[in-house]
Amino acid sequence: MSLPRLKDRLLALARFGALPGGGVTRMCWSPPYEQARAWLLGEAKTAGLATWVDPAGNVFGGLGADRVSPDAPVVLTGSHIDTVPEGGILDGALGVMAGLECLHTIREAAIRPARPLAVAAWSDEEGRYGSLFGSRAFCGRLDPAAIPSMAAVDGDRLVEAMGRAGFDAHRAPEAAAPPGGVAAYVELHIEQGARLEEAGIPIGVVETIVGARRARVVFHGQADHAGTTPMERRRDAFLGAADYALKARELVISRGGARAVTNFGVVHVHPGASNIVPGRAELVHEIRDPDAAVLERLARDCEALAREVAAARGLTVELRPISATTPAPCAPRVQETIEAACAALGLASRRLYSAAGHDAQNLAGVTDAGMIFIPSRGGRSHRVDEMSDWDAIERGANVLLHTLLRLAA
Ligand code: GLV
Ligand code: MN
Ligand code: MN
Repeated sequence: MSLPRLKDRLLALARFGALPGGGVTRMCWSPPYEQARAWLLGEAKTAGLATWVDPAGNVFGGLGADRVSPDAPVVLTGSHIDTVPEGGILDGALGVMAGLECLHTIREAAIRPARPLAVAAWSDEEGRYGSLFGSRAFCGRLDPAAIPSMAAVDGDRLVEAMGRAGFDAHRAPEAAAPPGGVAAYVELHIEQGARLEEAGIPIGVVETIVGARRARVVFHGQADHAGTTPMERRRDAFLGAADYALKARELVISRGGARAVTNFGVVHVHPGASNIVPGRAELVHEIRDPDAAVLERLARDCEALAREVAAARGLTVELRPISATTPAPCAPRVQETIEAACAALGLASRRLYSAAGHDAQNLAGVTDAGMIFIPSRGGRSHRVDEMSDWDAIERGANVLLHTLLRLAA
């Protein structure tokens, strides 16, 4: 495993969609994303891998495989090269670049594992147009009927975004891998939280990945003149949204498990002028919990709360689900293999759950899947200064290499 080569590739990838003050905006299907995808295919070819792209836009580099087939089940690694807006250079990129480096190293060393290996860059992990899109298609979990209505929060439709990138979104479900085609999946990722750093532990072995519910919550009131309408006669949709946001936070804290979290990351007020009482307010509400039953209960309780808040303020509310991912346990066999790799390398590890969503949770539905975490500096992620130490990156890539070799033996 060559850290200089891995570092060069991570920094080269970081140039696509780079922001002036650091960090990147590289949303799936956007021009910088498509440039990064073309660059990645070139890097995989340079590394001596067979390359292919499936109808969901997932990019693969194979060693001893030029497709996914049950005739020779592949040991798969990967992650994603799309980012959130104003994101960091490692979320997703690390797993793809480290996977590529592992396969490059294995090929150069002329090691011939019993099973073929492949690295994947899954499309739209960050879910601009729908959560964990590429891995969902690959794992046969993409509903063809939902495709025409899949859209970003700004209204940009998936069908058009993929069309601009030269893909037919309606064909994305054809990316579904044949049953038995994947022998195992392991993904290296930054932790995106502070647990490993605070404990001084170099490697995390993921036990479970959280599930997340996202819904659009739209409060409807009455637009009115902001100067002439007496306060008591206003039906202000924004105040309904604000009241709901504060009460939903309390509800999730008081009724969720210790690991339940909630967020309102998108807020729109309509028509959006300082001299008009807001007639409509839209929120995108996200709730996460590693326990499926708790998550389900919180989602239902929040729906009831939204209706109560609306009724109390003379408003109406519409609830439109956007996405639902289910919590996924990682396979004991993969966890044990990662731990054996750590022991062989003399690295301490700790089991933990993932509070972020990952493509591995889709893969867990079709094969034995697991994840390796490395510490994130200050626990920072989904922000431009997300980073990990280079020696932590090297340790993670080495654990990935040893885990892949064991899974493919
Ligand atoms: C993925 O980054 C997530 O939102 O958890
Ligand atoms: Mn992310
Ligand atoms: Mn990620």
